[in-house]
Amino acid sequence: MLSRLNTLWSWVIIAGLLPLLWLIINTAFDNLGGNPIQALHIRLGDWSLRFLYLTLAITPLQKVTQWRGMADYRQMLGLYAFFYATLHLLVYLLVDHGLMWRVIGIDIVESSYIWFGILAYSIVFGLALTSSKWAKKRMGKNWKKFHRFIYIAAIAAIIHYFWQLKGNLAEPLFYSLIIFLLLGFRVLVWLKNRKFSQLMIPGSQKVLLAAEKKAVVSSKSNKLNVK
Ligand code: HEM
Repeated sequence: MLSRLNTLWSWVIIAGLLPLLWLIINTAFDNLGGNPIQALHIRLGDWSLRFLYLTLAITPLQKVTQWRGMADYRQMLGLYAFFYATLHLLVYLLVDHGLMWRVIGIDIVESSYIWFGILAYSIVFGLALTSSKWAKKRMGKNWKKFHRFIYIAAIAAIIHYFWQLKGNLAEPLFYSLIIFLLLGFRVLVWLKNRKFSQLMIPGSQKVLLAAEKKAVVSSKSNKLNVK
């Protein structure tokens, strides 16, 4: 069983590197079309977004399949989202703008879609930094809360995508549908847990809680009457 899991682990690592390998081959054989820098930039952005969405899909899959070991794969997919986003950013800074900070500054101020890219990247960066088991232990309860920011990153990334779009709407619409479904799933689980936790309160405790509530309301109205 363990060796089978290790094999799956290796396959996921290799699969995550395939887009990069494909891009390197295409670059080496001059196969990136009329504007290779833009193509490189766009493809790296696309892959970062795909890995971000795959990361988000792990929790619902884990809930459906009850396979707890999926959390490790979520961490790896998230790190790949960060990896491709970093390459996307590096192409923008180094290849696209040759590290000319004044030009970069002007571009950032003028292009509002980049603000959302920066927001998404800052979150993904923070999540990658705190993705280790050590950080999880140190952050305690706050770790889970902080890692929910991944939804903000996914929404910011999709706004970033829509805003710079020059043509085909199909792909960003598809990603928006996925984020809508994933968020919908989260809300359903949250509602179900809330209902369940209410059902878990024993009958006698429910009566006590209701009496407590009544007492608070009547003391408030008494105070108002005195005034
Ligand atoms: C997690 C962070 C990010 C993700 C997921 C992301 C993703 C994307 C995606 C999907 C596209 C559109 C590709 C297409 O048209 O198919 C794009 C375009 C672009 N992104 Fe990002 N991005 C991120 C961060 C950034 C940052 C930090 C910057 C720059 C500071 C940036 C600069 C750009 C630019 C300039 C384009 C337009 C490319 C062009 O059409 O020439 N992105 N990004």
